Amino acid sequence: MYVLDNSKLNNKLRVSTMVKALLLTLCLTSSYAFAADKIGLGVPATEAQITAWDIDIRPDGKGLPLGSGSALDGEGAYVQKCASCHGDFAEGVGRYPALAGGLDSLASQHPVKTVGSYWPYASTVFDYVRRAMPYGHAQSLTNDEVYGITAYILYSSYIIEDDFVLDQNTLPEVEMPNKDGFISDTRPDTPPKTVCMSNCFAKAPVVVGKAKQIDVTPDEEPSAEGSVVVAEASSQKGEAVFAGQCMACHAVAQGENKFGPSLHNIVGQKVASVAGFGNYSAAIKLSDALWTEDNLKQFLSDPQEFMPGTTMPYGGLQDASELESLIAYLKKNTADK
Ligand code: HEC
Ligand code: HEC
Repeated sequence: MYVLDNSKLNNKLRVSTMVKALLLTLCLTSSYAFAADKIGLGVPATEAQITAWDIDIRPDGKGLPLGSGSALDGEGAYVQKCASCHGDFAEGVGRYPALAGGLDSLASQHPVKTVGSYWPYASTVFDYVRRAMPYGHAQSLTNDEVYGITAYILYSSYIIEDDFVLDQNTLPEVEMPNKDGFISDTRPDTPPKTVCMSNCFAKAPVVVGKAKQIDVTPDEEPSAEGSVVVAEASSQKGEAVFAGQCMACHAVAQGENKFGPSLHNIVGQKVASVAGFGNYSAAIKLSDALWTEDNLKQFLSDPQEFMPGTTMPYGGLQDASELESLIAYLKKNTADK
């Protein structure tokens, strides 16, 4: 489930609506003129000023200006004004955000949230581009350009065809792939009047691990053993990776189970079969695979992906060469000891 923090959005909407209401009231009643006269501050906002400032667009299209454009119309302006940061095909350049791609990645361990994969409404694309882009020259685009560029971005994610013309009527009809991926946050904006201070849980929360127990809190004095490992590690990459990423929870000595099982002889061994280790998850116990090098690689690069439900609290090792040397170390350890 992807929760859009609706309360924040709503608050923003509410504030801007309040400001608008206030401005209108000030313009329409004599109190403003009175205050301005008295204090000698400000001038009434003109109709044109209010219109220029009032550019928000709702998901149903309310607020969209006149104008139109297709991806074919918008491509030129996009390439000229956006591609330097967002890439020719909206794939992103360097650390600037990609605007396309990531479709079907949201439920994976590595969701890629782009306009195409994540945003629920096409109207937001138009609103955001018109309001805030190009970076550094916000609000310099004509409405036709914004329609064309919005179309180009949507086309880059295969949401519309390249000749589909966006305008006031067609844009609200575009369905974004993730339109059903958001839920309304129905919790009240203000907390309930009585605040719970004791016995607040129907079922007491269970602590499954402590930093001290899994030995991730460094000792005040590094132990002699620790510094030896670090010194040797500079010559042996795999051992260094193990020391940095695994040793908090695993040992390689036979029978030495820590928060995680001993990895002695792990290569080739049956999954979840380390003697004396009583902390296996239900998920890993169900597996009847072997720890082949290939399975180890997949598991260590993304534990949850390979073994959904495993309780190994490790995010995954992405660096292929580190992974390679780590396996070599575990293998050497398998042969040696
Ligand atoms: C100089 C670099 C630069 C240029 C040129 C530029 N952008 Fe951006 N764009 C950014 C940066 C930086 C962000 C992130 C802003 C933020 O998160 O506050 C961004 C964010 C966006 C987003 C929101 C992405 C997201 O997922 O949150 C959209 C849409 C976008 N730009 C469209 C455009 C369009 C269309 C143009 C051309 C009219 C353009 N940008 C030109 C730098 C640029
Ligand atoms: C924060 C603690 C922690 C870290 C860090 C960690 N592990 Fe684990 N590891 C565990 C736990 C707990 C399990 C048992 C998982 C389960 O039961 O689902 C486990 C299981 C394993 C298994 C399966 C063992 C078996 O008996 O089937 C292997 C292999 C493994 N870890 C290797 C590694 C390697 C290599 C690293 C370093 C890249 C690493 N782990 C990092 C805690 C950790």
